[in-house]
Formats: sequence, structure tokens, C-alpha cells
Amino acid sequence: MKFEFQNPTKIIFGAGVLARLGEVVRSHGKRALLVTGGGSVKRNGVFDRAAASLKDAGVSVVECSGIEPNPRITSVVRGAEIARKESCEVVIALGGGSTMDASKVIAAAVLYGGDPWDMIGHGQDNWAIPTRALPVITVPTLAATGSEMNSGAVIGSEDLKVKSFVMADCLFPKVALVDPELTLSVPRDQTAFGVCDLITHVTEGYFNGIDGTPIQDRFAEGVILTAMEWGPKAVADGSNLEARTQVQWAALVALNGWVQVGTAFSPPVHMIEHALSAHHDITHGAGLAVVNPAWMRFAVKARPDRFAQFAQRVFGLSTTAKDNLGLALEGIDKFEDFLRSLGCPTHLSELGIADELFSRYAEDAVLVVRDENGNLPGRPPMSKADIVEVLRSAL
Ligand code: NZQ
Ligand code: ZN
Repeated sequence: MKFEFQNPTKIIFGAGVLARLGEVVRSHGKRALLVTGGGSVKRNGVFDRAAASLKDAGVSVVECSGIEPNPRITSVVRGAEIARKESCEVVIALGGGSTMDASKVIAAAVLYGGDPWDMIGHGQDNWAIPTRALPVITVPTLAATGSEMNSGAVIGSEDLKVKSFVMADCLFPKVALVDPELTLSVPRDQTAFGVCDLITHVTEGYFNGIDGTPIQDRFAEGVILTAMEWGPKAVADGSNLEARTQVQWAALVALNGWVQVGTAFSPPVHMIEHALSAHHDITHGAGLAVVNPAWMRFAVKARPDRFAQFAQRVFGLSTTAKDNLGLALEGIDKFEDFLRSLGCPTHLSELGIADELFSRYAEDAVLVVRDENGNLPGRPPMSKADIVEVLRSAL
């Protein structure tokens, strides 16, 4: 293992911390762009509570509402124009991963002279990875992406049917104000998809990282086991604050860098899912629930011992009378059963996706990240034909 690690985002975590929003924002600016999604925060009263806290602290607010799930670059352009025109000094993301991701790129786009799409990797020669951004304060209302405390953002172009990412140090939020009460209103399906997303963030590192990372393995297993214990409780009873709290903490930990540090992993399942959601506007976590088990059945042949470890440590399956491959496959079946028990889809047909564009998804998946052979990095690296094969197996 060889690595450098820093995550500069301050976390303020716990039920009720929304009341501190004004105080937190005030130390980063007096005029804020408040970014929200399609209206859930208005319907459940969170917006009014946030606005009151900001007003009390003397922060004036300009709104940018209407960030869509699978956020689009057009929304980023719109948000940046508002922020520039209104001389905003700080950006507040009040919403799910889509709102947080759009907010981060808006914060960078305000200070960037060119087309914000230059900042999102899509195979261009000169990827304009941002080096400056307005300070961002994240207030997640959905436990899933971990965007509240990482430097990544995922944005799509509706015209190009491409969904891709940017990662840059300047995009780390200054503060993640994480109040699990805000997630009490998340519908059952989105709760389940969020649990799937957070687990997938961990499995990507677990299965695609380098060998010899025993502490990271245990961190990963701890996050997965916690999500498997508390996720179903949050899905069964959305008003269970304890379950919401544990799931939200798990989601944050799953992708703030700590679990995967030193593993040098690549996320093939995410790259494939992003191609699907670019074309079909499906929920990210639902797409992952389909792709991840299918990908596991492909990757298991290259690394049966690793998957056998997963089967043993996560599902308590025993080695007796089974070879490692048999054990590994049983673990994958159990994992898929778990996703299904949460209410997640596990076949593309459940998402209304057929095989017409499989080769296009494969092209798109390697558009941004590919190795010297043009394959999608991971263990094992995937050719475009492999990607098509995995998708076919998920029909
Ligand atoms: O838009 P509103 O009205 O707020 O409704 C949203 C949306 O319809 C709703 N919702 C959010 N909080 C709610 C709520 N409904 C009721 N009560 C609440 N408290 O949930 C729906 C989905 O919201 P969205 O923000 O799209 O979900 P999520 O947090 O799962 O974010 C998904 C996006 O994040 C990207 C995904 O690709 C996708 O675009 N990702 C970002 C990552 C990152 N930055 O690190 C990593 C992830 O792997 C992922 O790729
Ligand atoms: Zn994800």
C-alpha cells in the first residue's frame, strides 16, 4: 500500500443540526445560493427551517430550485448564472446527491470562464478539472451518495446522453451538515436504492482494489454489515430515526474516501450504471442493484477467493464441502436476495431496458476511464464485449 489521503470537509452530524445552518454558512459568506431539487424540501418544511436559520444569522439567500435527479449540465449553467448575477459568496446544497453534485459544479462554474461541460470528463482532450470554487455547504436530505463529504460530482448532458463525473480538491464541501431527521420523508423505494448505492460504493473498492488491504477489508465489511442491519429497518419504517441515522452515517462513511484509502480501486459497476442512467434516466441506486450482482458473477471467475471471503464474512457462509467458487457464487446469490428483499430491481427488464443499445452503453462506459488497452479498469479489466455480456446476463 502506498497513498496520500486528505478529506478537509468538516462533519456536523446529528438529529436537529439543521438549526445550525445559518451559523455555519455565515462564516463562509453573507450571500448564499441555496440549491434545491424538485420540491421535496418545500413540501416537508425543511426549506422553511433552513431559510429561517439563515435569516437569523444574517445570511441573504438567492434560490436555484429544480435540480433534477441525474442532474443536467443545463441546470449547472443556470445555477452559475444566478450565482454570478447575484454575487453569491457561498453555495448551499439542500437535497439529495443530485442537488449536491450540481451545487459543487455550480460553485466551480461561477469562477470558470468557459463552458461548464468542459469540467465533466467525456473523452475530451483537455479536461478542465477545476482548481477554484466558491465554498460549498452540503445538507443532505437522502442517504446514498456520500457526496456531502467527497470531492466528486456526477453530471449529465441530456443532448449527448452522457453522464460522467469530475473530481477535484476544490469541490470538497467546507462543511457537511448532516441531519438524519431530514431523511425521514424519503420514500421507501429511494431509501432502498440509497442503501444499495452505499453498499456498492464499498463493494467497488472491496472487489476492485489491490491485494493486501486487511484493514480496509474490515472497514468495508463493517459498513456493509451495518447497512444490511439498519437498511431494512429504514425501508420497513421510514419514521425510525435510529435506522435513518445509522444508514446516513454509513452512506457518508462509504464514500468519503476512508474505507477505500490505499486500495487504488476503480468503479466499473458505477461506470456501467452511469451509461444506463444517461440513456434511461433511471435512479442510480436502482441501476446499481441490477448491474452489481451481474458484474459480480462475471468478476468472480478472476478472483474466487475474494468473493469467498465476502460470502464468509458478510453472509456467514461456511467453507465446508464447498470449493471457493461455489462458496463465492452462493455469497453473490445471497447479496442479490438481500437487494431484492429491500425492493430493488435485479433485472434490466424491471427498469424497462432491453438490449438495443448495449454496445452504446459499453462505448460510453469506457469513454472517460479506460486503460491502455481501451478496457474499463477493474479486476478484471472489462472489454466492451465483457460489458455487453454482463448486461445481457442482467436482462
Ligand atoms: O428533487 P427532490 O424533490 O428533492 O426529490 C428527490 C428525488 O426525486 C427525492 N428526495 C431527496 N430527498 C428527499 C426526497 N424525497 C423526499 N424526502 C426527502 N428528504 O429523491 C429523489 C432522488 O434524489 P437524488 O438527489 O437524485 O438521489 P441520490 O441522493 O441518490 O443522488 C443520485 C445522484 O448522485 C450521483 C448519481 O449518479 C445520481 O446522479 N452520484 C454521486 C456521487 C458522488 N457525488 O460522490 C457518487 C454516486 O455513486 C453517484 O454516482
Ligand atoms: Zn453510487
